[in-house]
Amino acid sequence: MIQKPRGTVDIFGEYGDDFEYIKEFLIKFSTLSNFGRIETPIFENYELFCRDKNDSTDIVKKEMYVFKDKGDRLLALRPEGTAPVIRSVIENKTMHKKPLPLKYFYISPMFRYERPQSGRQRQFWQYGMEVIGCNSLYDEFHSIIFALQILKNLNIKNYVLKINYIGNFESRRKWLEALKEYFIPFKDQLTEISIERLDTNPMRILDDKVDGEKDFVKKAPRIDKFLSKEEQEQIGLFYSSLKESGVNYEIDSSLVRGLDYYTGFVFEIVSNSDELKGQSTIIGGGKYSKLFKEIGHNEDIECFGFAIGLERLIIAFRDENPDFKTAKHLDVYFASLLEDKKILFDIMFELRKNNIACDSNFNLNKIDKHFKYAQNFEPKYICILGEKELKDKNIIIRDQITFKEEVVKLDEVANFLIKKVGK
Ligand code: HAM
Repeated sequence: MIQKPRGTVDIFGEYGDDFEYIKEFLIKFSTLSNFGRIETPIFENYELFCRDKNDSTDIVKKEMYVFKDKGDRLLALRPEGTAPVIRSVIENKTMHKKPLPLKYFYISPMFRYERPQSGRQRQFWQYGMEVIGCNSLYDEFHSIIFALQILKNLNIKNYVLKINYIGNFESRRKWLEALKEYFIPFKDQLTEISIERLDTNPMRILDDKVDGEKDFVKKAPRIDKFLSKEEQEQIGLFYSSLKESGVNYEIDSSLVRGLDYYTGFVFEIVSNSDELKGQSTIIGGGKYSKLFKEIGHNEDIECFGFAIGLERLIIAFRDENPDFKTAKHLDVYFASLLEDKKILFDIMFELRKNNIACDSNFNLNKIDKHFKYAQNFEPKYICILGEKELKDKNIIIRDQITFKEEVVKLDEVANFLIKKVGK
């Protein structure tokens, strides 16, 4: 038997209903907040994700699906959505054509070659939002509240918001130098990957699963003393705004994120759900200011964004809303006992045009079989059409709650049901 590749899932049935429900909610929520949808190609030129030969991120070093096409082009399946969005904005010159900030969201499959487990897949879905050209601290603040409101609307409460400030170019440069200097005497106590990161990005040693637990790593210099006065003021304003808005958060000085493009505030939302042990970060994002230049524009534009792993969001949602029913129901089911089923087609399409969900099973001619099949979709009404009804140009409408039956003229049935179901 041919099976699906490791680390992938089929989205259907009840899980598919949850997926659709959450997707529709996210589209509505984003559209109401003036975000426009953007969908970029599933594969891109490899250099879009590996912009720097010294890139130290796991994604670039070991997780990307890279392949050559028949024209010998080096391509990669998209591991994340931010770089493609910025590539699109530069390529389409959108930042010159539309007023800033540009606001985009996407709901797309991403690909990372990771060891699969619950909440970690090789093909997974991300909802992401990007604010491009965000010069006000309130854009960043609003984006974090936006993420929290998504969880609130989905009745997800069992999480921790972690925030850190990892510096602008200048303060970061000084901090990274200090970190490198500090770690060199401990070199023989670091793992191989951290030794590599000493040169490429010593900040990542802080969040390394193994080294992050070591005492000397916990005592490494913090960014605080390298910050400019302006940055200190911004941080003060940011945290006091969060407090004034009643937002609970933890400052986590080891939070540096797994991608190289961040500058300034970064955040993660970590679920406490038992179902997500080990893979509990449902949302991650922050400020990034160097992607425009890295991708080929002549100046940088400040941006802020985050992404949610939909699989993890669904696990947290299910865990905290066990009784929530997203299954779709039919409004009307047609039970035709006639050989010629097409008599019903016009009525069914008229109902659908009016947002009334209806269906039939064209393989069945027996009333009991129709009822048994219809049970799967819990219709509000079942319409029965037999030889006698056809001869009298009628149809029987059975209310599935009261079980009362009414006889209605065939040419009036659509209007009758539109009034009854009333959408
Ligand atoms: P990220 O932290 O790499 O950030 O991914 C964001 C979220 O995607 C994670 O918090 C997690 O929920 C989900 N995720 C990541 N890898 C997997 C996986 N293998 N299986 C299932 N879910 C996964 C980014 O991708 C950034 N582009 C976010 C961003 C947007 N930053 C600024 N704008």
